[in-house]
Amino acid sequence: MKVCIVYSSCTGNTRKVAEALAETSGAPCFAVRHAPNPDDYDLLALGFWVRKGLPDARAQRYMARVSGKQVFFFGTLGAWPHSEHARRCMVATHELLQAGGNTVVDGFLCQGRINPQVIAATQRKGRHPMTPERRARQLEAESHPNAADLTAARLHWQRCLQRCASGTAHLPSAPCFATGIMPAPEPLGNNSAL
Ligand SMILES: Cc1cc2nc3c(=O)[nH]c(=O)nc-3n(C[C@H](O)[C@H](O)[C@H](O)COP(=O)(O)O)c2cc1C
Repeated sequence: MKVCIVYSSCTGNTRKVAEALAETSGAPCFAVRHAPNPDDYDLLALGFWVRKGLPDARAQRYMARVSGKQVFFFGTLGAWPHSEHARRCMVATHELLQAGGNTVVDGFLCQGRINPQVIAATQRKGRHPMTPERRARQLEAESHPNAADLTAARLHWQRCLQRCASGTAHLPSAPCFATGIMPAPEPLGNNSAL
């Protein structure tokens, strides 16, 4: 079984997760700019950062080239990983990949530090008014992905590799939004992205 990891990362959060997956499996790992032809692989781990509730544009362009493969997706985002926002992102990513005739074996999302310049710009433009809940979430995101996130990502990836190796990847698993998400506190009414 030929396996590779391809990730898109702007500020390094998703790259950290990708490198943890590569370390645990020995699979080759590529930034999306240098990604190989997906046709040469059987199983791909596809990583992205979340923008506007979806995988970022570079990751989506690569996903559009992936067809008829077994896929594990992983991503980092500013929102709580247990939020409705994250759940919707999971579902949308699953659908994007399934539309290409891929078998989505599992998915994983965790928080990632939000670029402070982006937060400042958002504030200047008067978007997403700062509330104590929003500030708490952004502060929490600053320490992610942390060791626990990387351990959880590795476990999901190992389980995915086992399922693919044993030929059971096609069997139904739990809905994608219920797998791979580490429990996290989510203050009520704070589901928004940034
Ligand atoms: C322009 C921009 C848009 C973003 N949009 C979202 C979003 O819709 N939802 C969310 O949860 N996080 C959003 N984020 C936060 C990033 O997804 C998060 O910080 C991610 O970990 C960045 O990953 P990277 O370091 O691999 O680039 C956004 C960040 C930027 C810069």
